[in-house]
Formats: sequence, C-alpha cells, structure tokens
Amino acid sequence: MPATTVIGTQWGDEGKGKVLDLIAEKADIVMRFQGGANAGHTVEVKGRRFVFHLLPSGVLHEDKMNLMGNGLVIDPAALWLEIEELSREGIDLSQRLKISGRAHLVMPYHRSLDAAFEKARTERIGTTHRGIGPCYADKISRHGLRFYDLVDFDRFRRKLSALLPLQNRLLQALGHEAPLEEEKILQEYALHSTRLAPFVTDTSRYVREALERDSHVFFEGAQGVLLDVDHGTYPFVTSSNSSALGLPAGAGIPPHAAGHILGVVKAYNTRVGSGPFPTEGSDDENARLRDAGNEFGATTGRPRRCGWLDAVVLRHVVALNGIQGLALTKIDVLGGIKTLKICTRYEIDGREVDRFPDDTDLLGRVKPVYRDLPGWTADISGCRAFDELPREAREYIGVVEKLAGAPAEIVSVGPGREQTIFREVSSPSSGTRRPTPEKET
Ligand code: GDP
Ligand code: IMO
Ligand code: MG
Repeated sequence: MPATTVIGTQWGDEGKGKVLDLIAEKADIVMRFQGGANAGHTVEVKGRRFVFHLLPSGVLHEDKMNLMGNGLVIDPAALWLEIEELSREGIDLSQRLKISGRAHLVMPYHRSLDAAFEKARTERIGTTHRGIGPCYADKISRHGLRFYDLVDFDRFRRKLSALLPLQNRLLQALGHEAPLEEEKILQEYALHSTRLAPFVTDTSRYVREALERDSHVFFEGAQGVLLDVDHGTYPFVTSSNSSALGLPAGAGIPPHAAGHILGVVKAYNTRVGSGPFPTEGSDDENARLRDAGNEFGATTGRPRRCGWLDAVVLRHVVALNGIQGLALTKIDVLGGIKTLKICTRYEIDGREVDRFPDDTDLLGRVKPVYRDLPGWTADISGCRAFDELPREAREYIGVVEKLAGAPAEIVSVGPGREQTIFREVSSPSSGTRRPTPEKET
C-alpha cells in the first residue's frame, strides 16, 4: 500500500511529529491536509528539538517532498518564519515544498477576530489565537482569500479592498478598537507573495500522480479526532476535520487512497483548552503526569490537562476512522507509578456504558470506570525491543491493544528518533497480533 495516514486519536499532542519524522524515512512525500499554525509537532533529532506548526514533519529528511494541501489555513508570516529557520540550519526547501493554491490565507483580521470572539464568549474554547476559526469561517462563508489570490497580487488587492471594511465592522462590533489598515496589510502580503508564490501549485494533482506511480505518501494529521469539528467534543474543538475523515477533501485524493491508517495514542490522555475530559486527574495526578511528560503546549506553552488513558474514546476513534495500527507514545512517562489505570467504561446517570456518548454535554457528565494495572519501576527509555520491556509494560500495551481493537505497531519510549520499538504486525516473535476488540455492551 503506497500511502499511510497518521492521525491523533485523542485531543492532540499525541506525538504525531515524532512518529511522522521517524517513518518519513520510508516516504517519498509527506503531506499535511488540514489545520494551520495551531498545530505544534515536535521532532527531536540528536538532541536538537524542532517544533513545526505548518511545515510537514518530513522536512528534516533531505530527499523528501513536502506538500501543504488545500485543506490547510496558512498564516504566511508563520510559514516564512519556519522556512527561514530551517534555511539558517542549512535546510533548503525551495525544491522540496509545495503549497496548494486552494489553501486559505490566514489574515491579520482572522487573528484579531479569534481573540475578540474568545473574549466575547461566556464559555471560552481556549483557542490558540492563531486565527484558525475565523479563517475557516470565511472559507465556508465564501469570502476567504487563497494562495492563488496571493500569486495574482492585483486580484488579492481587489478582493482585500472589498473585504476589509466588512472585517473591520465585525471587529468594531466585537469591541476591537482600531480598524486594520489596508495599506499596511498590502505591504506585508506583497512580501509574502514574492516569497511564497514560487511554492504554489496544484498539490491534489501532484499527490494523485505520485500515488499512481506508487510513490509512498504519508499524510500527516494535525490535532486529534476529538478536536474534529464534526466528530469531536463540539464546540470545544478546532474548525477542521482533524480525523481521517478529513483527508480526502483536505488533500484532494479519492477516499480509498488513504492507505494504512495509523493512530497515534499517548499512553495517557492530555488536553489543552476547555471542554469535557472524563479521565482528567486530580491535582496531584495531573501534576505528576505533566511534570514527568513535560506536558506544556508546543504552540502556546500552556500547561496541558492530564489524566489516565481513556479506552472508551480509543475504541470509538479506532472504529470511526478505520484505524488499522497504533503508534503508542510516551509509555516511558508512566514508569514509577505503582498502580496504573485505564478507563474501560463510563457511568452515566447510574448506568455503566462502554459506548462513547455522541452528545458533548452527556460526555461532560460521565464518570470513568477504571481497570487497575500494575506499574513498573525500571527506566524503559533505553529499551529498543519489545521483549526488553518489563512484563508490566508489555501487559499494559497488550491491554491497550485489546481495548482499542488495533495492534501497537510502534511503541515510543522517548522523544528521540532512536527511542522507538518497531513491531511487525502479526509476527509471533514481536508479540504482535491483531487483537479482537472487547465487545461493547
Ligand atoms: P504532536 O502535536 O502530536 O506532534 O505532539 P507534540 O509535539 O505537541 O507533543 C508531544 C511531546 O512529547 C513532544 O515534546 C515530543 O518531543 C514528546 N514525545 C514524543 N514521543 C515521546 C515519547 O515516547 N516519550 C517521551 N517522554 N516524550 C515523547
Ligand atoms: P497538534 O497538531 C492540542 C485546541 C486548542 C483549543 C481548540 C481550538 O499539535 O496536536 P483553535 O486554535 O484550533 O481554534 O483551538 O483546539 N488545539 C490543539 N490542542 N494540539 C493541537 O495541535 C491543537 N490545535 C488546536 O487548545 O482547545
Ligand atoms: Mg502538538
């Protein structure tokens, strides 16, 4: 199968960047298909730490093509910063990066509106303030600006001139004081046009032709399934389809071309921003996981909310996305905890269920029911083979596979590339076989 789609199975920050960088070795192309600079994908190579907000996580591999699909909303200033940062490291992307002309431009008023809407809300979402929601809203309302407009700068000028008064009126109504100046925006975006126009192309055609030639493509999801605008914990979500269901539209490929669907699962759960989180820990548990796992946002630096792994979520997400394999990350962080817990069911209004509730409000009222598992004390960050792991860690992985209904093909025991255990699916020597999911009742 020439394609692999990598998505987050929780509320983002599962370690997608690490996994993508690692497996990109085998890719010809890495393509992002949704989201924007709200993402923060960390890649650590030889002790150096890179955080990519917009660039696909394959960029550190010299010979890979990187595509930014039509489903993205791209802040050109943020993108240029990343391109320049890599250029200073001697990494030249001029022949290795292509941007869809259909991708939407994040504009200064989108960032201002993001902040203004948050301020006006009675229940804040806790957005990243990167202008994501307002930019997608403009796309759907059909007054967005796209990279094709940036390439034809006269067209950009005409469209901006018609749009800006409307955006300023909206901002003013939300209490934003000074209107944004057209001339200032034009100056800034003229520079973006010169710099970024050479990267703009039809990425949908490019990737489809590559797939026809049997090139290996890795599709890189941002955020996680529970932040998907349709299938997540609405309204506490992002504004794109961050599940595998968003791939065909966001990359411009037929649905069957998604290939192997790999779900990245953190060995426990985290969430940044507001919204229900059934397994969120007590202050002590939260702090322990946050410190051990260094759980601070890669984009905003905010402390992440932490709690035990939620298998009700996982089972639902595996079924919804057709996930065939898991990459289980950060299992090293659980070392030293005497008794580990995995949520296997919820209690709702006195009844136990193991189905994920479709209504977000109901999810906010559930009580998690846990299965206890023995922990381990050894530091496992140096393990490089499955059978080097302590028995309790292997047991934990086995329980996750069984509850999720998908095998852990990759086990990550640290942020570095080398801190990884690859397992052959269905190979008895690696201890992997396709698990039968535990039945829903
Ligand atoms: P992403 O948004 O899914 O790419 O994840 P982030 O980069 O936002 O957050 C994951 C964090 O965990 C990063 O700091 C990674 O370097 C780190 N990380 C990834 N895998 C592992 C792992 O297996 N163990 C540990 N300790 N850290 C990891
Ligand atoms: P990666 O790709 C974690 C969260 C924000 C907020 C909600 C809406 O690194 O996993 P937005 O700015 O998108 O309108 O914010 O979504 N959020 C993320 N949380 N990881 C991310 O990306 C996120 N991108 C958005 O915290 O709750
Ligand atoms: Mg992140």
